[in-house]
Amino acid sequence: MIDRFITLCYKEYHDRDELSIQQKKVVQSAAEACATAYSPYSQFPVGSALLLQDGTLIHGSNQENASYPCGICAERNALFHYGSLTSRIPIQKIAVVVAQGSKSGALPAAPCGLCRQVMAEFETRNEGPIEVILAQEGSVILIFESCQALLPHWFSPSQLLNVR
Ligand code: THU
Repeated sequence: MIDRFITLCYKEYHDRDELSIQQKKVVQSAAEACATAYSPYSQFPVGSALLLQDGTLIHGSNQENASYPCGICAERNALFHYGSLTSRIPIQKIAVVVAQGSKSGALPAAPCGLCRQVMAEFETRNEGPIEVILAQEGSVILIFESCQALLPHWFSPSQLLNVR
């Protein structure tokens, strides 16, 4: 038997001014996208934005439904929108921003398991890692260097192909 360990590395910022111009830009776009959220059931508006290599920003927000499971998170909405574009410039960064302030001392809201799975697969289709930025008013900003770092041992397309 071998004990194995996975280390999750990320950066924690206490001041928005420490972010690069590009990081600020994608966080700002995600924050603005919160205004388009449809979240009457959770009252928890979330915005997400993708920064592409050419500087283009693509945003999404959570869209809920009276039939609760039909709803979709902001990150997946932004990524699936990107996926449906005819010309896809590689993604550099994804930001997730929650409109309402966090409870004192709490970390910013993090992507759910479904979103992590989708983010991980988009990263395999991308030319390189996609940096993940999480921000919420009243909380620190967390930056992870890749989507797959957020989902160790994820179910990847290569596993599915091996089954054939
Ligand atoms: N939500 C997101 O859009 N992204 C996240 O990272 C966390 C959760 C949404 C889903 C649902 O509409 C609401 O927030 C409450 O869970």
